[in-house]
Amino acid sequence: MTLPTLTTSRLTLRQLVEADREAVVKVFSDPEMSRFFAADFSDPASASAMVDRRLTYRGPAGQGHWAIERDGEVIGVAHLRPSSELPGGVPELGYYVASAHAGQGLATEAAQAVLDHGLGVLGLPAIWALVHEHNAASRKVAARLGFLDVGSGIHYGDLHRVLVTLPTAHGRPHHVELWVPDLAEAERSWGWLLGELGWREFQRWPAGVSWRLGGTYLVVEASPALSATNHERTRPGLNHLALHVATRTEVDALTTRAPDHGWRPLFADRYPHAGGPAHYAAYLENESGFEVELVASEGSPPEE
Ligand SMILES: CC(C)(COP(=O)(O)OP(=O)(O)OC[C@H]1O[C@@H](n2cnc3c(N)ncnc32)[C@H](O)[C@@H]1OP(=O)(O)O)[C@@H](O)C(=O)NCCC(=O)NCCS
Repeated sequence: MTLPTLTTSRLTLRQLVEADREAVVKVFSDPEMSRFFAADFSDPASASAMVDRRLTYRGPAGQGHWAIERDGEVIGVAHLRPSSELPGGVPELGYYVASAHAGQGLATEAAQAVLDHGLGVLGLPAIWALVHEHNAASRKVAARLGFLDVGSGIHYGDLHRVLVTLPTAHGRPHHVELWVPDLAEAERSWGWLLGELGWREFQRWPAGVSWRLGGTYLVVEASPALSATNHERTRPGLNHLALHVATRTEVDALTTRAPDHGWRPLFADRYPHAGGPAHYAAYLENESGFEVELVASEGSPPEE
């Protein structure tokens, strides 16, 4: 499984490979690097065994172990992988920068790139970190990255702070506004569907209504400035909105009930894989010609 290469203004983070072994052993040769760990990686055999564990790691796509390079030299490692310490194997971040390069903001820069990848690209709902109670430098890095301190516990054999960071609203859709020819019809179809998905009415005025979920709201408005009486999804502009649905079972249930609420199925002969074999989704169209796609967020069920 290949990890993406992440670049920052001073660093390149690329997948850790066998050829990095010597450089990583060198990074950990200073006993200070292991001060807060149960093992002493200044022992080359111990550091090499740690490299082995990282090289043989297998886990979810997009997670794993990176080498941190500056000007072509490996100066540290970073990882994002299911936690072996926290319940549910939640994603855990780790960062290590050689003492010779410490205090220049490099761990912060590397870790930020991994966070951007995990939260922004992989769409992880949260990333966790465990930092030794007395590891002041790492606690400072974590605080600067926006981690929240949510408690402490015995992890990796000693007292660690339990830290978590969540995605921010930055760059996400603030709202979507659909101009509709028939507000009552839009309320019947959109109001029902969004309500089923957990959206709640947010604003209401004579020509419109909106529903909100988290940081995003969707407006339907019968504007007096409307220049046509129907939406044509094959014209330039919005073709369809696609919404996450937690499970395949819920996609099935919504698809069954949708016709009672103003939606007709599209591509029904290829349900639920009209979007491809690995994509479980329903495509629906309302009376005004708006298309919505309901996509199961859960991955493929395990093979029998
Ligand atoms: C912890 C570690 C990643 C920090 O790397 P770094 O590149 O020096 O980190 P940054 O420069 O981004 O930030 C470190 C901050 O901690 C501060 N700091 C360093 N040592 C400190 C100490 N003993 N007490 C308080 N603050 C300290 C630095 O001054 C800096 O803050 P500043 O920029 O406000 O001055 C690095 O020292 C390391 O790899 N240590 C060993 C492995 C480890 O502990 N990893 C973390 C596992 S959770």
